[in-house]
Amino acid sequence: MSRFDLEGKIVLVTGAGANGGIGHALALGFAQAGARLAIADCDVQGLAQTASQMEQIGHKPVVIACDISHPSQVNDMFTTLSSTLGAVQVLVNVPFFFPARVPPHELLLEDWERMLAVNLTGYFLCCRAALRVMLAAGDGSIINIGSNAGELALGRGAMPYSCAKAAVHQMTRELAIEYASAGIRVNALLPAQTLTPGLRAHLDSQRFRDHVLPRILAGLPQGKLLDPEDYVGPAIFLASNAARAVNGVLLPVDGGNLAMNAGGSYTWPGL
Ligand SMILES: NC(=O)c1ccc[n+]([C@@H]2O[C@H](COP(=O)([O-])OP(=O)(O)OC[C@H]3O[C@@H](n4cnc5c(N)ncnc54)[C@H](O)[C@@H]3O)[C@@H](O)[C@H]2O)c1
Repeated sequence: MSRFDLEGKIVLVTGAGANGGIGHALALGFAQAGARLAIADCDVQGLAQTASQMEQIGHKPVVIACDISHPSQVNDMFTTLSSTLGAVQVLVNVPFFFPARVPPHELLLEDWERMLAVNLTGYFLCCRAALRVMLAAGDGSIINIGSNAGELALGRGAMPYSCAKAAVHQMTRELAIEYASAGIRVNALLPAQTLTPGLRAHLDSQRFRDHVLPRILAGLPQGKLLDPEDYVGPAIFLASNAARAVNGVLLPVDGGNLAMNAGGSYTWPGL
């Protein structure tokens, strides 16, 4: 048996509805790895698209409409999951909410609160519900999707998002320590700028292409944006028995972004 085997594992991917986003890629990747999946999102249409693509490769997921910032919807999601697939063994938290960027001094309190409600409290609610199930089973793996923004300041109005992600990173470490002896591992993947539908939409803007994109690429030593597919292998690793001693890790999947010196890192001419 492969150390990376996920055959029959019960996996819940939240934020799996984006057609072309990271959650969407992870849902398809876990299905291809043989897992039994529940996929959740507040975007019901996007969720249906992901489900239909999974069916085309021979996997029929349990599809759950859920806004993770609502405690009752999160509870209902886990009830549905238990009564269909059974006890969740792997939880992957992916949702992302980022309204229009504004300078921090113009940020409305309600926008700050909404950002935290989805990007932090929603992750906590899903972790808490999964932990209750995993504790009873004495086994489980939680993968939170963090961000390079949780480790470094991005600017461009990213402050509330960065704060939420930094807290998700710390929540990952805290939960990893709290539940290690119960057989539950909690880790995070830290993406950098990825060519998702959200970023692709910005590429239509000349201003973005001329002024923002070059700055982003200068911070990516591999010289290119990440691809949603880049996260599938690392997520399968963290979910699998191959990572049985990997706990509390914030794993950058960023082409080297976080390894760079903020003052400028240089490579040899021609490389
Ligand atoms: N794309 C990037 O460049 C990048 C960089 C660093 C980190 N990340 C992180 O990766 C993850 C995925 O990012 P993405 O770009 O693929 O996002 P995306 O916008 O493409 O997809 C996010 C999904 O979350 C869903 N969602 C939003 N609010 C929700 C809610 N309240 N309840 C349930 N679902 C909800 C959306 O409907 C969408 O399907 C996020 O956690 C993001 O912070 C992305």
